[in-house]
Amino acid sequence: MVGALKARYTLIDNETMEQVGLPGIEPTEGLPGIDISGDILVNGKWEKGGLRKLFGCEVFDQASGNSANCKSAITYIDGDKGILRHRGYDIQDLTENCDYMDVSHLLLDGELPTQEQRTAFESQMVKDMNLSDTVLKVIGSHAGNPTKKPMAILASAVSAAAGEGDGSNPRRMIGQMAAIAAHIIRMKQGKNSVIAPIEGLGFSENFVTMAFSDDDYRYVCNPVVAEAMDKLLILHADHEQNASTTAVRTAQSARQQDEAAEVAPALTAGVVTLAGSLHGGANQEVLEQLNELANTDTDLPLDDRIDRIIARAKDKDDPFRLMGFGHRVYKNFDPRALVLKQFVDTLLSTMGIQDERLDIAMKLEERALADPYFQGKKLFPNVDFYSGIAMAAMGLEPELFTLIFAVGRTSGWIAQAEEQTASKQAINRPRQMYMGETKRSVIAPV
Ligand code: CMC
Repeated sequence: MVGALKARYTLIDNETMEQVGLPGIEPTEGLPGIDISGDILVNGKWEKGGLRKLFGCEVFDQASGNSANCKSAITYIDGDKGILRHRGYDIQDLTENCDYMDVSHLLLDGELPTQEQRTAFESQMVKDMNLSDTVLKVIGSHAGNPTKKPMAILASAVSAAAGEGDGSNPRRMIGQMAAIAAHIIRMKQGKNSVIAPIEGLGFSENFVTMAFSDDDYRYVCNPVVAEAMDKLLILHADHEQNASTTAVRTAQSARQQDEAAEVAPALTAGVVTLAGSLHGGANQEVLEQLNELANTDTDLPLDDRIDRIIARAKDKDDPFRLMGFGHRVYKNFDPRALVLKQFVDTLLSTMGIQDERLDIAMKLEERALADPYFQGKKLFPNVDFYSGIAMAAMGLEPELFTLIFAVGRTSGWIAQAEEQTASKQAINRPRQMYMGETKRSVIAPV
Protein backbone atom coordinates (compact mmCIF):
# COMPACT_ATOMS: atom_id res chain seq x y z
CA MET A 1 0.00 0.00 0.00
CA VAL A 2 2.84 2.38 0.95
CA GLY A 3 4.33 1.93 -2.54
CA ALA A 4 1.18 3.49 -4.06
CA LEU A 5 1.57 6.68 -2.01
CA LYS A 6 2.54 9.98 -3.59
CA ALA A 7 3.71 13.01 -1.65
CA ARG A 8 1.35 15.65 -2.97
CA TYR A 9 2.48 18.30 -0.50
CA THR A 10 5.84 19.21 1.03
CA LEU A 11 6.25 20.84 4.42
CA ILE A 12 9.49 22.72 5.08
CA ASP A 13 10.78 24.02 8.41
CA ASN A 14 12.42 27.28 7.33
CA GLU A 15 14.60 27.32 10.46
CA THR A 16 16.14 23.86 10.18
CA MET A 17 15.43 23.34 6.44
CA GLU A 18 14.07 19.87 7.30
CA GLN A 19 11.27 18.77 5.04
CA VAL A 20 8.71 16.00 4.77
CA GLY A 21 6.35 14.85 2.04
CA LEU A 22 2.66 14.51 2.83
CA PRO A 23 0.08 12.45 0.93
CA GLY A 24 -3.07 14.08 -0.37
CA ILE A 25 -6.53 12.73 0.29
CA GLU A 26 -9.27 13.10 -2.34
CA PRO A 27 -12.90 13.35 -1.24
CA THR A 28 -15.64 12.55 -3.77
CA GLU A 29 -16.63 16.24 -3.57
CA GLY A 30 -15.04 19.24 -1.89
CA LEU A 31 -11.51 20.41 -1.29
CA PRO A 32 -8.62 17.94 -1.35
CA GLY A 33 -7.02 17.24 2.00
CA ILE A 34 -3.50 16.95 3.35
CA ASP A 35 -3.23 13.75 5.36
CA ILE A 36 -0.95 14.39 8.32
CA SER A 37 -2.15 11.47 10.40
CA GLY A 38 -0.51 8.42 8.84
CA ASP A 39 2.34 7.75 6.40
CA ILE A 40 4.81 10.58 5.86
CA LEU A 41 7.75 10.79 3.47
CA VAL A 42 10.92 11.38 5.52
CA ASN A 43 14.30 11.42 3.76
CA GLY A 44 12.82 9.68 0.72
CA LYS A 45 11.25 6.88 2.83
CA TRP A 46 7.58 6.49 3.80
CA GLU A 47 7.27 6.15 7.56
CA LYS A 48 4.26 5.54 9.77
CA GLY A 49 3.42 7.75 12.72
CA GLY A 50 1.95 11.07 11.60
CA LEU A 51 3.31 14.59 11.39
CA ARG A 52 3.66 15.19 15.10
CA LYS A 53 5.99 12.27 15.68
CA LEU A 54 7.91 12.44 12.41
CA PHE A 55 8.29 16.20 12.04
CA GLY A 56 8.08 17.27 15.68
CA CYS A 57 5.33 19.87 15.51
CA GLU A 58 1.66 20.26 16.32
CA VAL A 59 -0.91 21.57 13.87
CA PHE A 60 -2.78 24.48 15.43
CA ASP A 61 -6.29 24.83 14.05
CA GLN A 62 -8.38 26.91 16.43
CA ALA A 63 -11.96 25.57 16.72
CA SER A 64 -11.18 23.08 13.90
CA GLY A 65 -12.18 25.59 11.23
CA ASN A 66 -9.66 24.17 8.75
CA SER A 67 -9.44 20.48 9.48
CA ALA A 68 -11.42 17.35 8.87
CA ASN A 69 -11.53 14.94 11.77
CA CYS A 70 -13.30 12.01 10.11
CA LYS A 71 -14.34 10.61 6.74
CA SER A 72 -18.09 10.67 6.18
CA ALA A 73 -20.49 9.66 3.41
CA ILE A 74 -23.66 11.16 4.89
CA THR A 75 -23.84 14.89 4.17
CA TYR A 76 -22.01 17.21 1.80
CA ILE A 77 -21.95 20.98 2.23
CA ASP A 78 -20.36 23.55 -0.06
CA GLY A 79 -20.68 26.72 1.97
CA ASP A 80 -19.56 29.05 -0.82
CA LYS A 81 -22.12 27.72 -3.27
CA GLY A 82 -24.89 27.24 -0.70
CA ILE A 83 -25.12 23.48 -1.32
CA LEU A 84 -26.44 21.00 1.25
CA ARG A 85 -26.86 17.40 0.14
CA HIS A 86 -27.68 14.22 2.01
CA ARG A 87 -26.25 11.09 0.36
CA GLY A 88 -26.16 13.04 -2.93
CA TYR A 89 -29.68 14.54 -2.84
CA ASP A 90 -30.09 18.33 -2.62
CA ILE A 91 -31.98 19.56 0.44
CA GLN A 92 -34.44 21.42 -1.83
CA ASP A 93 -35.21 18.14 -3.66
CA LEU A 94 -35.70 16.28 -0.37
CA THR A 95 -37.98 18.92 1.19
CA GLU A 96 -40.13 19.04 -1.94
CA ASN A 97 -40.41 15.32 -2.65
CA CYS A 98 -39.83 13.38 0.57
CA ASP A 99 -40.87 13.39 4.19
CA TYR A 100 -38.88 13.10 7.39
CA MET A 101 -39.18 9.31 7.49
CA ASP A 102 -37.74 9.03 3.96
CA VAL A 103 -34.89 11.35 4.89
CA SER A 104 -34.18 9.51 8.16
CA HIS A 105 -34.02 6.21 6.27
CA LEU A 106 -31.71 7.85 3.73
CA LEU A 107 -29.36 9.16 6.42
CA LEU A 108 -29.30 5.91 8.34
CA ASP A 109 -29.24 3.33 5.56
CA GLY A 110 -27.82 5.26 2.63
CA GLU A 111 -30.84 5.06 0.28
CA LEU A 112 -34.40 6.35 0.14
CA PRO A 113 -36.76 3.57 1.22
CA THR A 114 -38.94 1.49 -1.07
CA GLN A 115 -42.66 1.73 -0.28
CA GLU A 116 -42.47 -1.49 1.74
CA GLN A 117 -39.37 -0.40 3.67
CA ARG A 118 -40.95 2.97 4.33
CA THR A 119 -44.11 1.50 5.83
CA ALA A 120 -42.14 -0.82 8.11
CA PHE A 121 -39.71 1.96 9.09
CA GLU A 122 -42.42 4.48 9.97
CA SER A 123 -44.53 1.94 11.82
CA GLN A 124 -41.50 1.02 13.99
CA MET A 125 -40.70 4.70 14.64
CA VAL A 126 -44.30 5.33 15.71
CA LYS A 127 -44.17 2.33 18.09
CA ASP A 128 -40.95 3.77 19.51
CA MET A 129 -42.88 6.88 20.52
CA ASN A 130 -44.21 5.09 23.61
CA LEU A 131 -42.46 6.35 26.72
CA SER A 132 -41.75 4.30 29.83
CA ASP A 133 -43.07 5.37 33.23
CA THR A 134 -39.50 6.14 34.30
CA VAL A 135 -38.98 8.59 31.46
CA LEU A 136 -42.38 10.19 32.07
CA LYS A 137 -41.47 10.57 35.75
CA VAL A 138 -38.17 12.26 34.87
CA ILE A 139 -40.00 14.75 32.64
CA GLY A 140 -42.75 15.29 35.22
CA SER A 141 -40.30 15.88 38.05
CA HIS A 142 -38.60 18.72 36.13
CA ALA A 143 -41.28 20.26 33.97
CA GLY A 144 -43.31 21.80 36.80
CA ASN A 145 -40.35 23.96 37.73
CA PRO A 146 -40.55 27.13 35.62
CA THR A 147 -36.82 27.75 35.94
CA LYS A 148 -35.95 24.37 34.36
CA LYS A 149 -35.11 24.94 30.72
CA PRO A 150 -36.80 22.60 28.20
CA MET A 151 -33.47 21.50 26.69
CA ALA A 152 -32.12 20.64 30.15
CA ILE A 153 -35.23 18.50 30.76
CA LEU A 154 -34.75 16.91 27.34
CA ALA A 155 -31.16 16.00 28.24
CA SER A 156 -32.26 14.31 31.50
CA ALA A 157 -35.10 12.42 29.83
CA VAL A 158 -32.97 11.31 26.86
CA SER A 159 -30.35 10.07 29.26
CA ALA A 160 -33.04 8.08 31.13
CA ALA A 161 -34.48 6.66 27.89
CA ALA A 162 -31.02 5.76 26.61
CA GLY A 163 -30.34 3.83 29.80
CA GLU A 164 -33.31 1.57 29.09
CA GLY A 165 -31.87 0.16 25.88
CA ASP A 166 -29.72 -2.94 25.50
CA GLY A 167 -27.86 -1.57 22.47
CA SER A 168 -29.81 -3.63 19.97
CA ASN A 169 -32.06 -0.85 18.69
CA PRO A 170 -30.43 2.59 19.00
CA ARG A 171 -32.75 3.93 16.30
CA ARG A 172 -35.64 3.72 18.73
CA MET A 173 -34.32 7.04 20.01
CA ILE A 174 -35.82 8.83 16.97
CA GLY A 175 -39.29 8.02 18.29
CA GLN A 176 -38.26 8.50 21.91
CA MET A 177 -36.81 11.97 21.23
CA ALA A 178 -40.03 13.07 19.51
CA ALA A 179 -42.24 11.69 22.27
CA ILE A 180 -40.10 13.23 25.02
CA ALA A 181 -40.10 16.61 23.26
CA ALA A 182 -43.88 16.40 22.76
CA HIS A 183 -44.44 15.63 26.44
CA ILE A 184 -42.16 18.49 27.55
CA ILE A 185 -44.14 20.84 25.29
CA ARG A 186 -47.41 19.65 26.87
CA MET A 187 -46.17 20.08 30.41
CA LYS A 188 -44.63 23.49 29.73
CA GLN A 189 -47.97 24.56 28.23
CA GLY A 190 -49.77 23.48 31.39
CA LYS A 191 -51.20 20.16 30.18
CA ASN A 192 -50.76 17.05 32.26
CA SER A 193 -52.06 14.08 30.31
CA VAL A 194 -49.82 11.70 28.41
CA ILE A 195 -50.80 11.23 24.79
CA ALA A 196 -49.72 7.89 23.37
CA PRO A 197 -48.88 7.50 19.66
CA ILE A 198 -51.72 6.43 17.41
CA GLU A 199 -51.13 3.56 15.00
CA GLY A 200 -52.04 4.58 11.47
CA LEU A 201 -50.99 8.20 11.92
CA GLY A 202 -47.65 9.18 10.39
CA PHE A 203 -44.59 10.13 12.44
CA SER A 204 -44.96 13.91 12.15
CA GLU A 205 -48.75 13.76 12.54
CA ASN A 206 -48.23 11.78 15.74
CA PHE A 207 -45.60 14.20 16.97
CA VAL A 208 -47.91 17.18 16.41
CA THR A 209 -50.88 15.36 17.97
CA MET A 210 -48.86 14.27 21.00
CA ALA A 211 -47.53 17.80 21.50
CA PHE A 212 -50.70 19.82 20.93
CA SER A 213 -53.67 17.66 21.99
CA ASP A 214 -55.77 19.11 24.76
CA ASP A 215 -56.09 17.14 27.97
CA ASP A 216 -59.59 16.19 26.84
CA TYR A 217 -58.20 14.74 23.58
CA ARG A 218 -60.21 17.09 21.40
CA TYR A 219 -57.28 17.92 19.17
CA VAL A 220 -57.52 16.86 15.56
CA CYS A 221 -54.17 17.04 13.87
CA ASN A 222 -54.04 20.03 11.53
CA PRO A 223 -52.47 18.70 8.29
CA VAL A 224 -50.93 22.10 7.52
CA VAL A 225 -49.15 22.11 10.88
CA ALA A 226 -48.08 18.46 10.48
CA GLU A 227 -46.65 19.16 7.04
CA ALA A 228 -44.83 22.27 8.22
CA MET A 229 -43.45 20.32 11.18
CA ASP A 230 -42.30 17.55 8.84
CA LYS A 231 -40.43 20.09 6.69
CA LEU A 232 -38.78 21.59 9.75
CA LEU A 233 -37.63 18.12 10.81
CA ILE A 234 -36.15 17.47 7.35
CA LEU A 235 -34.35 20.82 7.32
CA HIS A 236 -32.73 20.04 10.66
CA ALA A 237 -32.04 16.34 10.09
CA ASP A 238 -28.28 16.53 9.54
CA HIS A 239 -25.58 19.09 8.94
CA GLU A 240 -22.31 17.13 8.84
CA GLN A 241 -19.73 17.86 11.55
CA ASN A 242 -21.45 20.69 13.44
CA ALA A 243 -20.82 21.16 17.18
CA SER A 244 -23.51 18.79 18.48
CA THR A 245 -22.72 16.07 15.94
CA THR A 246 -19.04 16.37 16.82
CA ALA A 247 -20.03 15.97 20.47
CA VAL A 248 -22.06 12.84 19.63
CA ARG A 249 -19.23 11.37 17.53
CA THR A 250 -16.70 12.13 20.27
CA ALA A 251 -18.88 10.50 22.92
CA GLN A 252 -19.37 7.53 20.61
CA SER A 253 -15.63 7.29 19.85
CA ALA A 254 -15.03 6.67 23.54
CA ARG A 255 -17.57 3.85 23.55
CA GLN A 256 -16.58 1.88 20.47
CA GLN A 257 -14.93 -0.87 22.42
CA ASP A 258 -18.14 -1.50 24.38
CA GLU A 259 -19.70 -4.76 23.36
CA ALA A 260 -22.98 -3.31 22.23
CA ALA A 261 -21.51 0.04 21.11
CA GLU A 262 -24.89 1.49 22.07
CA VAL A 263 -25.43 4.82 20.35
CA ALA A 264 -28.27 6.15 22.49
CA PRO A 265 -26.25 7.50 25.48
CA ALA A 266 -24.08 9.58 23.13
CA LEU A 267 -27.19 11.51 22.09
CA THR A 268 -27.24 13.28 25.45
CA ALA A 269 -23.96 14.96 24.44
CA GLY A 270 -25.70 16.16 21.28
CA VAL A 271 -28.67 17.57 23.18
CA VAL A 272 -26.61 19.60 25.66
CA THR A 273 -24.38 20.96 22.89
CA LEU A 274 -27.32 21.83 20.67
CA ALA A 275 -28.87 23.83 23.53
CA GLY A 276 -26.19 26.53 23.21
CA SER A 277 -27.31 29.90 21.87
CA LEU A 278 -24.67 29.92 19.13
CA HIS A 279 -26.00 26.58 17.86
CA GLY A 280 -29.58 25.32 18.23
CA GLY A 281 -30.59 27.94 20.76
CA ALA A 282 -30.29 30.75 18.22
CA ASN A 283 -33.86 30.45 16.85
CA GLN A 284 -35.26 31.39 20.25
CA GLU A 285 -33.08 34.49 20.37
CA VAL A 286 -34.06 35.42 16.80
CA LEU A 287 -37.70 35.57 17.80
CA GLU A 288 -36.88 37.49 20.96
CA GLN A 289 -35.02 40.06 18.82
CA LEU A 290 -37.98 40.28 16.42
CA ASN A 291 -40.36 40.67 19.39
CA GLU A 292 -38.22 43.48 20.71
CA LEU A 293 -38.20 45.20 17.33
CA ALA A 294 -41.98 44.86 17.13
CA ASN A 295 -42.77 45.99 20.67
CA THR A 296 -40.12 48.41 21.93
CA ASP A 297 -40.03 52.15 21.21
CA THR A 298 -42.93 51.80 18.83
CA ASP A 299 -43.16 55.60 18.62
CA LEU A 300 -39.99 55.43 16.48
CA PRO A 301 -40.38 54.38 12.82
CA LEU A 302 -39.52 50.71 12.22
CA ASP A 303 -36.63 51.68 9.93
CA ASP A 304 -34.97 53.58 12.79
CA ARG A 305 -35.42 50.63 15.15
CA ILE A 306 -33.82 48.35 12.55
CA ASP A 307 -30.94 50.79 12.01
CA ARG A 308 -30.35 50.79 15.75
CA ILE A 309 -30.16 46.99 16.03
CA ILE A 310 -27.86 46.78 12.99
CA ALA A 311 -25.60 49.46 14.47
CA ARG A 312 -25.35 47.45 17.69
CA ALA A 313 -24.44 44.28 15.76
CA LYS A 314 -21.65 46.19 14.00
CA ASP A 315 -20.24 47.80 17.13
CA LYS A 316 -16.95 46.07 18.01
CA ASP A 317 -17.30 47.04 21.68
CA ASP A 318 -20.77 45.52 21.97
CA PRO A 319 -20.98 41.72 22.22
CA PHE A 320 -24.47 41.87 20.70
CA ARG A 321 -24.97 39.83 17.49
CA LEU A 322 -27.78 39.80 15.01
CA MET A 323 -29.17 36.35 15.76
CA GLY A 324 -30.00 34.18 12.77
CA PHE A 325 -27.18 35.73 10.75
CA GLY A 326 -23.82 34.19 9.90
CA HIS A 327 -22.64 30.62 9.66
CA ARG A 328 -19.35 28.83 10.05
CA VAL A 329 -19.64 27.11 6.68
CA TYR A 330 -22.21 29.01 4.56
CA LYS A 331 -20.56 32.12 3.19
CA ASN A 332 -23.03 32.85 0.40
CA PHE A 333 -26.45 31.69 1.54
CA ASP A 334 -27.87 28.95 3.73
CA PRO A 335 -30.05 26.80 1.43
CA ARG A 336 -32.21 25.80 4.41
CA ALA A 337 -33.05 29.47 5.03
CA LEU A 338 -34.24 29.86 1.43
CA VAL A 339 -36.57 26.84 1.71
CA LEU A 340 -37.86 28.08 5.06
CA LYS A 341 -38.50 31.64 3.93
CA GLN A 342 -40.76 30.32 1.18
CA PHE A 343 -42.67 27.83 3.26
CA VAL A 344 -43.15 30.17 6.25
CA ASP A 345 -44.94 32.53 3.91
CA THR A 346 -47.19 29.71 2.65
CA LEU A 347 -47.75 28.38 6.18
CA LEU A 348 -48.89 31.73 7.52
CA SER A 349 -51.24 32.41 4.62
CA THR A 350 -52.72 28.87 4.70
CA MET A 351 -53.32 29.21 8.43
CA GLY A 352 -54.73 32.69 7.96
CA ILE A 353 -52.15 34.17 10.33
CA GLN A 354 -50.82 37.66 9.89
CA ASP A 355 -47.55 37.95 11.76
CA GLU A 356 -45.97 41.36 11.77
CA ARG A 357 -42.68 39.69 12.70
CA LEU A 358 -42.40 38.09 9.25
CA ASP A 359 -42.55 41.53 7.65
CA ILE A 360 -40.02 42.84 10.16
CA ALA A 361 -37.74 39.87 9.50
CA MET A 362 -37.88 40.46 5.74
CA LYS A 363 -37.08 44.13 6.19
CA LEU A 364 -34.25 43.36 8.62
CA GLU A 365 -32.82 40.83 6.17
CA GLU A 366 -33.01 43.35 3.31
CA ARG A 367 -31.26 46.07 5.34
CA ALA A 368 -28.55 43.76 6.69
CA LEU A 369 -27.79 42.27 3.27
CA ALA A 370 -27.34 45.77 1.85
CA ASP A 371 -24.94 46.76 4.64
CA PRO A 372 -21.17 46.68 3.88
CA TYR A 373 -20.42 45.12 7.31
CA PHE A 374 -22.61 42.07 6.63
CA GLN A 375 -21.49 41.90 2.99
CA GLY A 376 -17.80 42.09 3.93
CA LYS A 377 -18.05 39.39 6.58
CA LYS A 378 -20.34 37.28 4.37
CA LEU A 379 -23.12 37.16 6.96
CA PHE A 380 -26.42 35.84 5.55
CA PRO A 381 -29.62 34.61 7.20
CA ASN A 382 -29.22 31.05 8.47
CA VAL A 383 -31.81 28.34 9.11
CA ASP A 384 -32.76 29.87 12.44
CA PHE A 385 -33.76 33.22 11.01
CA TYR A 386 -37.17 32.08 9.74
CA SER A 387 -37.76 28.85 11.68
CA GLY A 388 -38.89 30.72 14.82
CA ILE A 389 -41.72 32.43 12.94
CA ALA A 390 -42.91 29.04 11.64
CA MET A 391 -42.80 27.50 15.10
CA ALA A 392 -44.58 30.47 16.69
CA ALA A 393 -47.34 30.03 14.10
CA MET A 394 -47.68 26.39 15.18
CA GLY A 395 -48.30 27.51 18.76
CA LEU A 396 -44.85 27.15 20.33
CA GLU A 397 -43.25 29.63 22.70
CA PRO A 398 -39.62 30.56 21.89
CA GLU A 399 -38.19 28.54 24.80
CA LEU A 400 -39.59 25.38 23.15
CA PHE A 401 -38.10 25.92 19.68
CA THR A 402 -34.81 24.07 20.14
CA LEU A 403 -36.73 20.92 21.08
CA ILE A 404 -37.94 20.71 17.47
CA PHE A 405 -34.38 21.10 16.18
CA ALA A 406 -33.31 18.21 18.46
CA VAL A 407 -36.11 15.94 17.23
CA GLY A 408 -35.13 16.55 13.60
CA ARG A 409 -31.40 16.17 14.26
CA THR A 410 -31.76 12.82 16.01
CA SER A 411 -31.69 10.75 12.81
CA GLY A 412 -28.52 12.62 11.74
CA TRP A 413 -26.86 12.12 15.12
CA ILE A 414 -27.60 8.39 15.04
CA ALA A 415 -26.42 8.00 11.44
CA GLN A 416 -23.19 9.84 12.30
CA ALA A 417 -22.64 7.84 15.48
CA GLU A 418 -23.19 4.56 13.63
CA GLU A 419 -20.74 5.67 10.96
CA GLN A 420 -18.24 6.56 13.70
CA THR A 421 -18.53 3.06 15.16
CA ALA A 422 -18.20 1.40 11.76
CA SER A 423 -15.07 3.45 10.95
CA LYS A 424 -13.22 1.95 13.93
CA GLN A 425 -11.40 5.28 14.14
CA ALA A 426 -9.52 5.83 17.41
CA ILE A 427 -11.02 7.81 20.28
CA ASN A 428 -11.25 11.56 19.49
CA ARG A 429 -8.44 13.20 21.37
CA PRO A 430 -7.29 16.60 20.05
CA ARG A 431 -3.92 18.06 21.01
CA GLN A 432 -3.38 21.55 22.43
CA MET A 433 -0.81 24.33 22.44
CA TYR A 434 0.11 24.68 26.10
CA MET A 435 0.38 28.37 27.03
CA GLY A 436 0.64 28.07 30.83
CA GLU A 437 3.44 28.29 33.37
CA THR A 438 6.61 26.24 32.88
CA LYS A 439 7.79 24.07 35.74
CA ARG A 440 7.96 25.74 39.13
CA SER A 441 8.06 24.55 42.73
CA VAL A 442 5.86 25.22 45.69
CA ILE A 443 7.53 27.63 48.09
CA ALA A 444 6.51 27.09 51.69
CA PRO A 445 4.85 30.17 53.23
CA VAL A 446 7.31 32.12 55.36
N1 CMC B 1 -23.92 39.59 13.96
C1 CMC B 1 -22.88 40.47 13.94
N2 CMC B 1 -21.61 40.13 13.68
C2 CMC B 1 -21.37 38.84 13.43
C3 CMC B 1 -22.39 37.87 13.42
C4 CMC B 1 -23.69 38.30 13.70
N3 CMC B 1 -24.71 37.42 13.72
N4 CMC B 1 -21.87 36.66 13.14
C5 CMC B 1 -20.55 36.86 12.99
N5 CMC B 1 -20.25 38.17 13.14
C6 CMC B 1 -18.92 38.78 13.01
C7 CMC B 1 -18.08 38.50 14.24
O1 CMC B 1 -18.19 39.52 15.21
C8 CMC B 1 -16.69 38.42 13.64
O2 CMC B 1 -16.24 39.74 13.45
P1 CMC B 1 -14.64 40.07 13.54
O3 CMC B 1 -14.02 39.32 12.41
O4 CMC B 1 -14.59 41.56 13.37
O5 CMC B 1 -14.19 39.60 14.90
C9 CMC B 1 -16.93 37.81 12.26
O6 CMC B 1 -18.27 38.14 11.93
C10 CMC B 1 -16.75 36.30 12.22
O7 CMC B 1 -17.53 35.75 13.27
P2 CMC B 1 -17.14 34.39 14.03
O8 CMC B 1 -17.93 34.29 15.29
O9 CMC B 1 -15.66 34.31 14.11
O10 CMC B 1 -17.65 33.36 12.95
P3 CMC B 1 -17.92 31.83 13.23
O11 CMC B 1 -17.86 31.17 11.93
O12 CMC B 1 -17.05 31.34 14.32
O13 CMC B 1 -19.40 31.86 13.86
C11 CMC B 1 -21.73 31.85 14.10
C12 CMC B 1 -20.55 31.50 13.19
C13 CMC B 1 -23.00 31.21 13.58
C14 CMC B 1 -21.47 31.29 15.53
C15 CMC B 1 -21.88 33.39 14.17
O14 CMC B 1 -22.09 33.90 12.86
C16 CMC B 1 -22.98 33.85 15.10
O15 CMC B 1 -22.73 33.99 16.31
N6 CMC B 1 -24.23 34.05 14.59
C17 CMC B 1 -25.35 34.39 15.43
C18 CMC B 1 -25.88 33.12 16.08
C19 CMC B 1 -26.65 32.25 15.13
O16 CMC B 1 -27.45 32.72 14.34
N7 CMC B 1 -26.40 30.93 15.24
C20 CMC B 1 -27.10 29.93 14.44
C21 CMC B 1 -26.18 29.22 13.53
S1 CMC B 1 -27.08 28.27 12.30
C22 CMC B 1 -27.64 26.90 13.17
C23 CMC B 1 -26.64 25.82 13.12
O17 CMC B 1 -26.36 25.31 12.00
O18 CMC B 1 -26.18 25.45 14.21
